[in-house]
Amino acid sequence: MSIEIVPLAEADIPGAVDCLQRAFSDDPYFQWVFNEPSKFNIERNAASLASHFRYAINCDDPLFVARVSRAASEVKTDHEIKLPAGSIVGVSWWCSPREVSVPQTWSVWAQDWLLSFRQLMNNILFWGRGGLNASRYWVYKQVQRETQKEIWKDPRGYYFCNVLCVSSAVRGMGVGKRLMDIVMDKADAEEMPCYLESSKGYPNVLIYEKMGFELAKEIECVEGGDVCRLYCMLRQPRSKT
Ligand SMILES: CC(C)(COP(=O)(O)OP(=O)(O)OC[C@H]1O[C@@H](n2cnc3c(N)ncnc32)[C@H](O)[C@@H]1OP(=O)(O)O)[C@@H](O)C(=O)NCCC(=O)NCCS
Repeated sequence: MSIEIVPLAEADIPGAVDCLQRAFSDDPYFQWVFNEPSKFNIERNAASLASHFRYAINCDDPLFVARVSRAASEVKTDHEIKLPAGSIVGVSWWCSPREVSVPQTWSVWAQDWLLSFRQLMNNILFWGRGGLNASRYWVYKQVQRETQKEIWKDPRGYYFCNVLCVSSAVRGMGVGKRLMDIVMDKADAEEMPCYLESSKGYPNVLIYEKMGFELAKEIECVEGGDVCRLYCMLRQPRSKT
């Protein structure tokens, strides 16, 4: 099976949303922030993720998908029959670094507003946030802000890996690494550091350590007696020589 890593296109959005929803269904942060399964609305969640992907495209964020590219003439194995050409089997969405001293650009500011507007429309169309526990989300954002302030020492900013997922059918085959390498190689060439957060300690911390990240801090988001632990990891640029 052949898998290509390509920038996310509008046509890939439904596949990328589906891949993300499946990969994160057992994610500790996801379960903490959508803490009442009976209220979870998968269509509302899909609309929100699609709005975020459009935001990322418009902001020119590094946003890639792993897409099955096998030609129709190739021999099919059982594995491939389940994954037709064009299937999205992985997503990585990064935020580009922003210097601390440089203010937000007008275009990003406008996209922030457009995203808020789309989310408002989603709230109206789906009668609410689809089970998202908003107070938990804001607890997370606050803890995240404080943590980044504490551990982001480089004034040039960081490539921030916001989302990474690979379909369970193709895990352990190097797809996640390829989705990361495409941005980490750019970061290395620019001598820029990278950052990520994972709520799954095992095996993710091990996986990211293999990619050059180091655990910088473990943080806890607490709300309503429930705790969500996050592993914050930093990666310094590597020289190719
Ligand atoms: C995390 C995730 C993206 C990794 O993707 P993947 O395609 O399985 O990873 P790769 O096959 O590219 O493996 C990358 C490295 O980690 C290693 N690795 C993969 N799975 C591992 C495991 N379970 N335990 C230890 N090491 C592992 C690989 O051997 C490889 O190391 P190498 O380059 O030295 O050989 C994938 O497991 C996933 O989508 N998980 C669910 C969603 C999630 O947790 N996303 C991350 C949120 S922060």
